[in-house]
Parts: sequence; structure tokens; C-alpha cells
Amino acid sequence: MKKQNILITGASRGIGKAIADELTSVGFNCITPNSKELNLNDKNSVARYIAKNSDLDIYGLVNCAGINILASLDEIDDEKFDDMINVNLRSVISLAKFVSVSMRRNEGGKIVNISSIWGVRSKARRTLYSITKFGINGITKALARELGEFNILVNSVAPGYVDTDLTRQNVPLAEQVKIKQEIPLGRFAQTSEIAKLVAFLIGKENSYISGQVIVIDGGFLA
Ligand SMILES: NC(=O)c1ccc[n+]([C@@H]2O[C@H](COP(=O)([O-])OP(=O)(O)OC[C@H]3O[C@@H](n4cnc5c(N)ncnc54)[C@H](OP(=O)(O)O)[C@@H]3O)[C@@H](O)[C@H]2O)c1
Repeated sequence: MKKQNILITGASRGIGKAIADELTSVGFNCITPNSKELNLNDKNSVARYIAKNSDLDIYGLVNCAGINILASLDEIDDEKFDDMINVNLRSVISLAKFVSVSMRRNEGGKIVNISSIWGVRSKARRTLYSITKFGINGITKALARELGEFNILVNSVAPGYVDTDLTRQNVPLAEQVKIKQEIPLGRFAQTSEIAKLVAFLIGKENSYISGQVIVIDGGFLA
């Protein structure tokens, strides 16, 4: 039987790579364009990728690519704002629109948007990040409603702290030690732990969960 295609952004490393590995291991065919083939910060690149792949039959989409430009209110400028919106939000809409064509044709599909705990609550210097992560949860809920009639299930996965480049870049070591003391499980998540949840939501076992923001944070927000 032909493997079902899953389009995953941000699969070169970190959480996205773990998701691609997990979905491949359970029998999906993962399509993982890198940021040169599909630069989410460039709407021409996104339009070119979509036009070039218009024949692709997509069963699942994982919008995982993301950036996190930390900025206090005084440090926010148009460039930072645009970069964050383009990569973390605009691309999510463009790709959902693209895959929904084949999903409707096939009478079903799954979309998983990678959000964050900072899309549920927030923290200083996360204004831009929270705009995009609260926003992606809004997209999830609206699309779950709009696409439900086509048997397309849409969910957000909202990780807490995960051991990745992004975390190492944004959280100094001393702060990491403090944060771990506030996490009931006492550690950051492994990327594979996030990937297994995404695989469940994408897989056949999930036939009824839609429109949800599922927090996976070791109890941090509890
Ligand atoms: N790490 C955490 O603790 C954490 C917690 C909650 C949520 N998240 C979310 O999880 C997702 C993945 O995070 P991560 O920690 O795995 O990040 P990461 O290790 O920094 O990887 C980011 C991924 O996004 C891709 N990307 C960045 N800019 C892009 C662009 N303009 N066009 C296309 N792809 C681009 C990168 O591609 P290149 O390799 O080509 O740069 C890379 O594959 C993000 O949405 C993030 O907000 C992460």
C-alpha cells in the first residue's frame, strides 16, 4: 500500500526532526523541505514551493518551523515583527490552504500546529513570540471548525521547555537550572516526547480530537 504523505516544516533539526523520524518509523512518507527550498520568511519562496508541488497528495501537515526573537517592548521594531509573523503565522495559513485542497479531495486529513506554553500564558520579552503562538492556537480553533465537515482534524501541540538549539540559544544555563526546579518532572522534554504526541494526533488512532491546544510541559503550567 502507498505510504501517506506528511508535509513537515522545520524538520532539519530539533522538534521537527524528531517528528519526521517518529512519523517515518510508524510508516508515513515525510516530506521535509529545508529552509532553502521553502523559506517561510519569503512569501515568494512559499508561493513557488506551493506552485511546484501542486500535484502532491498530502494526508498530514505539521507546521513546526518557528523562530523566537526575544524583545522587550522597547526593542520591538517592524523588522522583528514581520519576521516573526511571516515564519510563525503567515506560513501556517499558506500551507494549510495548500494542503486542504488534497485533504478535501481525499475526504480527510490532519493538521498539527506546533505552538508553545507561551501561547497559553506569557513572560517578559515574549510579546512577539506570544502574538504568534496565541495566534497559531486561534488558527487551529478556526480551522478545526471550518474544515471539520471535510473530516480534517486540526490541533495545536504546545510544548514547554524542550532540549533544543532554540532553548539553548534563548535560555542561559543558570536560568535553565532554575526553571528545571519549577517543572514538576524536574527536567526539560526530549524532542522524541513531543514527536510521539504529534504522531498520535496525526495517526489513525486519532479520529475525534480536533480544535485542541494540547500542552506538554512536564506539569510546568499546572
Ligand atoms: N525548543 C523549545 O523549547 C520549544 C518549546 C515550545 C515550542 N517550540 C516550538 O517548536 C518549534 C520547533 O522548535 P525547535 O526548538 O525545534 O527549533 P530549532 O531547533 O531552532 O529549529 C527550528 C526549525 O525551524 C526552521 N526554520 C527557521 N526559520 C525558517 C524559515 N525562514 N523557513 C523555513 N524554516 C525555518 C529551521 O530550519 P533551519 O535549520 O534551516 O534554520 C529549523 O528546522 C517552533 O515552532 C518553536 O516555537 C519550541
